[in-house]
Amino acid sequence: MKATAIAPSNIAFTKYWGRKDEQLRLPANSSIAMCLSNLLTTTTVEFSPTFKKDQIIINGGKDSGEVERVIKHLDHIRKIAGINLKAKMVSNNNFPSGTGLASSASGFAALTLAAVKGAGLTLSEKQISILARQGSGSACRSIPGGFVEWLDGDTSDTSYAIQIFPSNWWKIANVVAIISQKRKEVSSSIGHQAAYSSPFMATRVANMPEKNKLIKKLIKEKDFKKFGELIEREALEFHAITLTQNPSLIYWTPGTVLLMKLIQKWRNEGLLVYFTLDTGQDIHLICEQKNVNKVKTKLKNLEEVKDIIVNTPGEGTRLTREHLF
Ligand code: DP6
Repeated sequence: MKATAIAPSNIAFTKYWGRKDEQLRLPANSSIAMCLSNLLTTTTVEFSPTFKKDQIIINGGKDSGEVERVIKHLDHIRKIAGINLKAKMVSNNNFPSGTGLASSASGFAALTLAAVKGAGLTLSEKQISILARQGSGSACRSIPGGFVEWLDGDTSDTSYAIQIFPSNWWKIANVVAIISQKRKEVSSSIGHQAAYSSPFMATRVANMPEKNKLIKKLIKEKDFKKFGELIEREALEFHAITLTQNPSLIYWTPGTVLLMKLIQKWRNEGLLVYFTLDTGQDIHLICEQKNVNKVKTKLKNLEEVKDIIVNTPGEGTRLTREHLF
């Protein structure tokens, strides 16, 4: 059977960094994120007795680095479905992958739903989120839509994402400033493994439950200023871990630092905009939707910014009849 899914990327307001169980991909802490309306992966999976081997085509064949992880994920789903048919999988992003735009989140979310349906399984949203997590941790947050929380859990069955507010809850936006289309040198997957070597990791993990509680309260109250201040501090704290883990990871480029400083300057001049960033050089500017044009105008004047993608809170992973093959 053939099935196609569309999945959003998501931007974490509190980050998943470090794992308490590498095998099961159980995160060091719970995290809170927003699904993105305009960073999408579409994936078609078909299992068929006519296929002699698995055929995986990601972004027209340009992204072969993930093929092994994709086949491992398909094997997992085949095992659950009790089938051993080979698969064809075609997947396309509508944005550059491997630059810090969370392509593995949308990629593994779309793959999970398409493969589950293609294998003839009927699973709950929770079960699909659990499965997606095992492909790529952040992918579990792309299954439900809107504002989501990934509950860290102590077992595989208790580590999954739930919606905490629907996408129309709060009119905020994520304006992505692409600093470079270059792929990052060290993937998040590898980076996670050394998180606990930072001397600051234990303190971070101890403080996370309180931080997550506060961020949920600020989203509920729609207190944009306090929310923005908190997510920006959190992004910098997360980078304090990557910078001090062993070996250290420096994801920023000069353009990234310049933009972080400019955002703080624009704020001092009265434009309410904050930043967050993941394991890459690109910056996610967070503002209220009414300020998107002002933010875009500022960014358009900078030669360091190569492209701009505007997102609002998006829907979760869904099926479509428009197959890619
Ligand atoms: C910095 O989900 O890409 O974006 O589980 O190894 O696939 P794997 O890692 P991944 O890590 C994302 C890390 C982050 C923070 C976040 O999205 O929470």
